[in-house]
Amino acid sequence: MSASLSRPRVGVWLIGARGSVATTVVTGCAAVTAGLHPPTGMVTETPAFTDSRLPALSDLVFGGHDTLDCPLPKRAESLTAGGVLPAGVATAVASELAAAEREIRPGGPTPGDTRSDAELITAFTDDIRDFTHRHELDRTVVVNVASTEPASREAGAPLPASTLYALAALRAGCPYVNFTPSEGMNHPVAAREAQLSGLPYAGRDGKTGQTLLRAVLGPMFAQRALRVRAWSGTNLLGGGDGAALADPAAAAAKNAGKERVLADTLGTVPEGEVHIDDVPALGDWKTAWDHVAFDGFLGTRMVLQTIWQGCDSALAAPLVLDLARLTARAHEAGLSGPLGALGFYFKDPVGGGPSGLAEQYEELVRFARSLGHTEGTGEAR
Ligand SMILES: NC(=O)c1ccc[n+]([C@@H]2O[C@H](COP(=O)([O-])OP(=O)(O)OC[C@H]3O[C@@H](n4cnc5c(N)ncnc54)[C@H](O)[C@@H]3O)[C@@H](O)[C@H]2O)c1
Repeated sequence: MSASLSRPRVGVWLIGARGSVATTVVTGCAAVTAGLHPPTGMVTETPAFTDSRLPALSDLVFGGHDTLDCPLPKRAESLTAGGVLPAGVATAVASELAAAEREIRPGGPTPGDTRSDAELITAFTDDIRDFTHRHELDRTVVVNVASTEPASREAGAPLPASTLYALAALRAGCPYVNFTPSEGMNHPVAAREAQLSGLPYAGRDGKTGQTLLRAVLGPMFAQRALRVRAWSGTNLLGGGDGAALADPAAAAAKNAGKERVLADTLGTVPEGEVHIDDVPALGDWKTAWDHVAFDGFLGTRMVLQTIWQGCDSALAAPLVLDLARLTARAHEAGLSGPLGALGFYFKDPVGGGPSGLAEQYEELVRFARSLGHTEGTGEAR
């Protein structure tokens, strides 16, 4: 299918293509490809991945769905004004942003949308297929970076949008990554189809800040035999993600993943909760506090506090690029089912695997090595 035999070209179809993370992905990929910035934060650009036969960043082609119509170059302008993108970069990669913008199709369902679930799935599938064929791509990876959906749904409710897109990905024959806590491929309807599809998929919910720290500190307390009594966290953030997570049901989906990491690494569930506060003035900049109360020798009481101040999209975008490349290569190698070895990237990994970051990294590197040795047999892992 590819125009080039030696360099597979890979589509990256972003659900939520005009959001902060997606805009940073497209801008960052073009800026790194052009040599304007080093690939800081991209794990797949480190030596352990050199022989994994991953697609080159210059061979990624972007498109996607969104329900908003603010053009990508305008989104990049406002991210520049907010300090998320460095000055001048969006202008330097204006033609790449315009090319991606031309490949964004209307998403759904929008308010008042009268299309049935089946009609929406068909429309999304057609858009993804058309993109893949017109660009003569070897494959397209569908990545969900759309707004987080509420966690719980009533029985008989329509399928969540993230699941409609996951089903469209399956029907278009595409590997799939869920970077959000939304249900997506985890919905029972999609999970059944996914099992039969022979496609690889990964998720859920990128691990970029507070949970990343928890995946390092949890094992430390357990390995040093220190007893954690309580672990409490608060997050302040703005931007589209902050607004979406102001809905308690959406925040519940996010917090479940954060708390799961502690239960898995500590072996017990400590007291304490996680809160997310929407502070629009902060934009994409997040502050996350953790307060850990623990006991030492002879029950001596101690406290660890951490403060994480991060720019959410700058943390997420390199991981999305990593995941698109790894999942594309897994598909090329004939792998199918949940890619548990990508748990390093997620709060709530599909396919099981360890929860501590160090073990997850080892597993990822093993997987990357096996990708280098696999042609198309589906044996890697
Ligand atoms: N940035 C991080 O560090 C991080 C970490 C983990 C997960 N995430 C998740 O990534 C997602 C994106 O974050 P963001 O900061 O870019 O948010 P954002 O609000 O800037 O972007 C979300 C985009 O999704 C679009 N959208 C909403 N519903 C849609 C639908 N039905 N179809 C198509 N598009 C739709 C919105 O119009 C918007 O453009 C969120 O779910 C967030 O929780 C982000």
